[in-house]
Amino acid sequence: MEIAIIAAVGKNMELGRNNDLIWHFKEDMKFFRETTTGNTVVMGRKTFESLPHALPNRRNIVITSNKNYAAEGAEVVGSVEEAVAKTKNDNVFVIGGGKVYAEFLSCADKLYLTEIDAVCDGADVFFPKFDKSRYIAEKLTDFFADGIHFSHILYTKKAVKNR
Ligand SMILES: NC(=O)c1ccc[n+]([C@@H]2O[C@H](COP(=O)([O-])OP(=O)(O)OC[C@H]3O[C@@H](n4cnc5c(N)ncnc54)[C@H](OP(=O)(O)O)[C@@H]3O)[C@@H](O)[C@H]2O)c1
Repeated sequence: MEIAIIAAVGKNMELGRNNDLIWHFKEDMKFFRETTTGNTVVMGRKTFESLPHALPNRRNIVITSNKNYAAEGAEVVGSVEEAVAKTKNDNVFVIGGGKVYAEFLSCADKLYLTEIDAVCDGADVFFPKFDKSRYIAEKLTDFFADGIHFSHILYTKKAVKNR
């Protein structure tokens, strides 16, 4: 099993506003679809509710504390531990939002970040702070759309050396 995080962030690590995405670039949607298709996506209840429906061609897992929660097209779990246990043979992409990224940051070996060269003053959800010096960064793409630059960067956690 491998756990990766995939997220799109602004210059201030903004993720969302009013339970929706801030930016909608078709090149980024394509990257997200191609990277996650065929794999398992894990998300928080709020992110699931921000989507029109469960993501097709992927195993969808939704985390919530509501034991009666029903999510069409998705499996519902009550904790991070349950999500990890249920997906131990899968390639997992954690797809948000801010709360769930923070909970998975320590166990994700890879972060696929769309780094958008723009800011959003009204953002209300942010990506958790992380120490970039602990990762190897590889730029995968470079785009310019709607007057904004953005790139896909793959951060891979450096191996911890044994003493
Ligand atoms: N830019 C991006 O790449 C990106 C990606 C995804 C989402 N977003 C944005 O992020 C925002 C949503 O993020 P968010 O942080 O508000 O919410 P979220 O992480 O999507 O969902 C939070 C909810 O998940 C459940 N949850 C999380 N951890 C749990 C745990 N350990 N045990 C039980 N339940 C748990 C809880 O649901 P209950 O309250 O039901 O218990 C919690 O209220 C939206 O604006 C969305 O558009 C952005």
